[in-house]
Amino acid sequence: MDKKRNLIIFGTRPEAIKMAPLVKEFQKNNSVFETKVCVTAQHREMLDQVLEFFEIVPDFDLDLMKPNQNLYSLTADIITQLKPVLEDFKPDYIYVHGDTSTTMSASIAGFYSGAKICHVEAGLRTHNKRSPFPEEINRQVTGRIADYHFAPTIQSKENLLNENIANDDILVTGNTVIDALLSSSEIVKNIDNTEISNLKKIIDSSKKIILVTGHRRENHGQGFINICEALKDIALSHTDVQIIYPVHLNPHVQKPVRDILSGIDNIKLIDPLAYPAFVWLMTQSYLIITDSGGVQEEAPSLGKPVLVMRDSTERPEAVEAGTVILVGTDKEKIVNEANNLLNDNERYNSMSALHNPYGDGKACERIVTFIQSL
Ligand code: UD1
Ligand code: UDP
Repeated sequence: MDKKRNLIIFGTRPEAIKMAPLVKEFQKNNSVFETKVCVTAQHREMLDQVLEFFEIVPDFDLDLMKPNQNLYSLTADIITQLKPVLEDFKPDYIYVHGDTSTTMSASIAGFYSGAKICHVEAGLRTHNKRSPFPEEINRQVTGRIADYHFAPTIQSKENLLNENIANDDILVTGNTVIDALLSSSEIVKNIDNTEISNLKKIIDSSKKIILVTGHRRENHGQGFINICEALKDIALSHTDVQIIYPVHLNPHVQKPVRDILSGIDNIKLIDPLAYPAFVWLMTQSYLIITDSGGVQEEAPSLGKPVLVMRDSTERPEAVEAGTVILVGTDKEKIVNEANNLLNDNERYNSMSALHNPYGDGKACERIVTFIQSL
């Protein structure tokens, strides 16, 4: 019997982290599947950090990233440069993840090629097409195109049912981010990691660590200025706190962050961390302040309270579980909520209970079993 041909396509750091366990799971089943990996390299260094850690060597690398790239040319380049890959490999199934430009463009190209499109992390919605921008539209378009929808939670399945997607084409799997988190937490325990040793040298373990990440396009400009002003305020008014901020490589993030936050003693601006070091740093943190989607999913599993610098979230489960509070990019609100958590133990304890709304680490197994059964 001919093997089913799978092509797993991704391009940015979070897609790579969340697709790596799926690549591994398909590779375990290589008597049934021929699985290849194509990276658009929408990200470069931040993607390569993940590929290296999970030991994934792409079969196709489009190497597309340009400094300060724009959505128009990025989208067009992904679609046109995937054409020869799809014509060469002729996949039966194409797997895309989440909501990036790579996701949407690869779905369109894959649809043109005639392959079945499988959407991992399907059904997340804010129903506000400008927030997150352009991710909400990326995932809605991908949802229209996809043949099979791997929804992380019941709520995300319900969103798809409300859009008249057939029940049989949706599988609730849990989020593959938890598969990645559980496997890497084990690996982190057993590796001699230089990056973690270097982090230990800059962390002041007598202080409460606040871990910060941020990159959302809708926060660029005034949003980031407000965020940085808030962080400065928190650092200057709490000498018992140390803020560690691995700064995203996007120039629209680098500039305000470095302009406003450089030179403050208890703020450390560092380069993006490889995934195991970042997981380790999350475990050492008292509080996380972020606008990241993935970090919102990982933190509840580690029992870390999160202030999310967004007005709405497509990940309501952790808000309902009480681990996440939305603070937007309003300086006062960020500072007030951080002060509450730094000063009020009862509030802190109620937010730092362990929750696992996003999965049990078996999402990829479920996806592979589903595809096998087709
Ligand atoms: C992208 C995704 C976003 C996702 C985020 C994860 C889109 C439109 N945006 O946003 O959904 O949440 O990735 O981090 O798909 N850069 C580097 N090296 C890297 C990565 C980025 O130098 O390894 C710089 C480059 O100048 C690049 C810029 O950052 O042009 C922006 O990258 P891009 O992928 O367009 O946007 P992100 O803000 O990273
Ligand atoms: N992450 C990482 N190194 C860092 C910051 C984040 O490996 O310095 C990981 C984090 O654990 C999560 C993912 O990157 O799994 C989130 O990526 P990002 O915030 O860039 O994108 P989003 O999830 O918002 O799409």
